[in-house]
Amino acid sequence: MSNDAVKVIAITSGKGGVGKTNLAINLGVAFSEMNRRTVLLDANLGMANVTPFLGLDPLFTLKDVLSARRTVEQVMVEGPGGMKIVPAAMGLRDMANLSSIEHAGIIHAFNPLADQIDTLLIDTEAGVSNTSLNFLCAAQEVTIVMSDEPSSLVHTHALISLLSKTHNIPRFHIVVSNTHNIATAHTVFKRLNNACSRCLEASLHYIGAIPHDEQVTDSVQSNQPILMRSPESKPAAAIRSIAEKLDQLPAKYNPRGHLEFFFERLLSASGYR
Ligand SMILES: Nc1ncnc2c1ncn2[C@@H]1O[C@H](COP(=O)(O)OP(=O)(O)OP(=O)(O)O)[C@@H](O)[C@H]1O
Ligand SMILES: [Mg+2]
Repeated sequence: MSNDAVKVIAITSGKGGVGKTNLAINLGVAFSEMNRRTVLLDANLGMANVTPFLGLDPLFTLKDVLSARRTVEQVMVEGPGGMKIVPAAMGLRDMANLSSIEHAGIIHAFNPLADQIDTLLIDTEAGVSNTSLNFLCAAQEVTIVMSDEPSSLVHTHALISLLSKTHNIPRFHIVVSNTHNIATAHTVFKRLNNACSRCLEASLHYIGAIPHDEQVTDSVQSNQPILMRSPESKPAAAIRSIAEKLDQLPAKYNPRGHLEFFFERLLSASGYR
């Protein structure tokens, strides 16, 4: 693939603990299985999610990239299945607080990646922190993870309302995670879609449900993605199918390459012009 086809996919949720990091890591493995050169950026800036999930203890983080102490290549660590991980810049609560040196450096810091990757996945914090909003506004595709509980429907609807009305994000891919019943997951999506279609212009696309499975719990406890620990399991099959749907979405053409465009938009969303 050429560098203008880097696909940037953010993963978020209305409330925490629904399975975002589990999905993000396993999507990374699934994309790698499809021979997509994949980088997973941990945008949980309060508390790293991705590297602890995998039992990794990185020496450097995104913070070192932003402060120009390290290149992004020096910071990236090898993840399962061949993907690369950019560890979270912990303690960097708000992208709007980046110094001007960090600002100037971020686009150029990530530029070398444009030629090296096909897919950039971003695992974000739940809810509507400024940082998460910046990443979501800049990404090409926004995937929202929800559970099949009524409270998740309320939180997801609130998040989509905000992202659609205030930030003009036009479409969302919905994953129902950790569900005990696939039929219930469908029903929950229909309810969400009905509620959103009444008052919002955004389009919602159901891209799959991940069943609750003790094998996921085991995989989390052993710091291994379910796609590698139990590749034949139902959750693994569900995540592969979600990855295929996301992979089939067209990568928007941008003359400067989507990665550079992404970071420019990220900084613009953070208040820089
Ligand atoms: N399909 C599943 N089956 C069983 N357990 C699951 C499943 N999906 C997620 N879990 C459990 O839910 C927990 C939370 O998952 P995860 O850390 O991916 O959520 P999160 O949305 O990233 O949370 P946070 O908002 O705190 O970042 C995991 O420890 C995992 O054990
Ligand atoms: Mg998480």
